[in-house]
Amino acid sequence: MKLLRNEDMKTVLMNENKFKEAAEIIKQGGTVVFRTETVYGLGADATNEDAVKKIFKAKNRPAVNPLIIHYSSLKHLLNDFGAIDPKSLEVIKKIRHAITIILPKPDFIPHITTGGLDTVAVRIPACKFARKFIRACGVPLAAPSANSSTRPSPTHWVDACEDLEGKVDAILCGRATKIGVESTVIKVKENKIEVLRLGGINTQDITKKTKLPTTYNPTHESPGTRFKHYSPSCPLIIAENADDYPGSIFLSNKDFGNNAAEITRNFFHIIRATEKNAEIIVVQPFPNTPEFQTINERLDKASTKGV
Ligand code: TXA
Ligand code: MG
Repeated sequence: MKLLRNEDMKTVLMNENKFKEAAEIIKQGGTVVFRTETVYGLGADATNEDAVKKIFKAKNRPAVNPLIIHYSSLKHLLNDFGAIDPKSLEVIKKIRHAITIILPKPDFIPHITTGGLDTVAVRIPACKFARKFIRACGVPLAAPSANSSTRPSPTHWVDACEDLEGKVDAILCGRATKIGVESTVIKVKENKIEVLRLGGINTQDITKKTKLPTTYNPTHESPGTRFKHYSPSCPLIIAENADDYPGSIFLSNKDFGNNAAEITRNFFHIIRATEKNAEIIVVQPFPNTPEFQTINERLDKASTKGV
C-alpha cells in the first residue's frame, strides 16, 4: 500500500480483521490507530524516528511528553531488552491489565520516543487483539492515546476518527475499549512501587497482586501529567447540581453507569457526546473511594479548574 505524505492524508478506515494490512503500514513507517483494553492507541514503529515524529505531529503533542512502547508478549520484550531488574519482571508477570512500567532506555529506542529521557515506559496490553496486531508489526509500537492533545481520551474508534481523520494513515475499527481509562504508569524502586500516573488498575489492587507497598504522589515525574488533558470543547464544572449554571447540561453519576467499572468505561465517550450540544457541562463528583480514584482525577483534569 502506497502511503500519502502530504497534509491531506487519506485515513483508511479498516475492519480489525484487516490487521495484517495495517501492520504493513507500520512496517513502512506509517501510523495506525488500534484498540487496547484501556483506550485506543495511535501506533508507530517505536524504533523509527520519522515514524514517531508523525505521532507527535498528528496529535499536536509536546515533544517533551514521552510515549509508551507496546510489546506483544513478555518474550518479545525480553528479546529486545535482555535482562531487566528482577522486581520489575515480577510485577510485569503478576499484572496483565492496564499497567505500564518504567525501565532504563535501551539504545535501540530513540530519544524522540522517550521525550529525551533515559528511561522508557513499556506496556504489554492484555487485549488479545492489540497483542495480535503488535506481533504482526514485528516491532515495538510507540502508542499514545489516539486523541488530539488536550482532548478526552478515545474509547471508541469514532472518537479517534473525530480527532485524527486526515492526520493518520489508518484506523482499525473495532469495539469499544473494556476499561475506558489509560494504563497505570508505575516505577519499581527496591521493594516499593511508585505510581506516576493513575490508571485502569488502582493502587490497592496493585498491592494486592504484587504484595508490594504502592504509593501515589502526583509529582509530575511522568511528564505528561503536567499538560492540559482530557478536556471537552466547552467548560466543564464539577458540582453536586447545576443550580448555579443555567443553560448547562448536568451529568449525574448514574448518567455514566451503575458502578465504578461501568462509569469508568463510559466516562470519556459520554463527555464527547455531551460537548456536541452543551455550552457548559456540569458533572457530579464521584464518591471519594479507591475504585473512583482514577476517574475523579480524570474529571478534575478535564474540569475548567483543573486546567
Ligand atoms: O493505556 C495506555 O497507557 C494508552 C494505550 C494506548 O496503551 N497509552 C497512553 O499513552 O495513555 P499516553 O501517551 O497518552 O500517556 C503516556 C503517559 C504520559 O503521562 C507520559 O508522561 C508517561 O506515560 N510516560 C511515558 N514515558 C515515560 C517515562 N519514561 N517516564 C515517566 N513517564 C513516562
Ligand atoms: Mg493520552
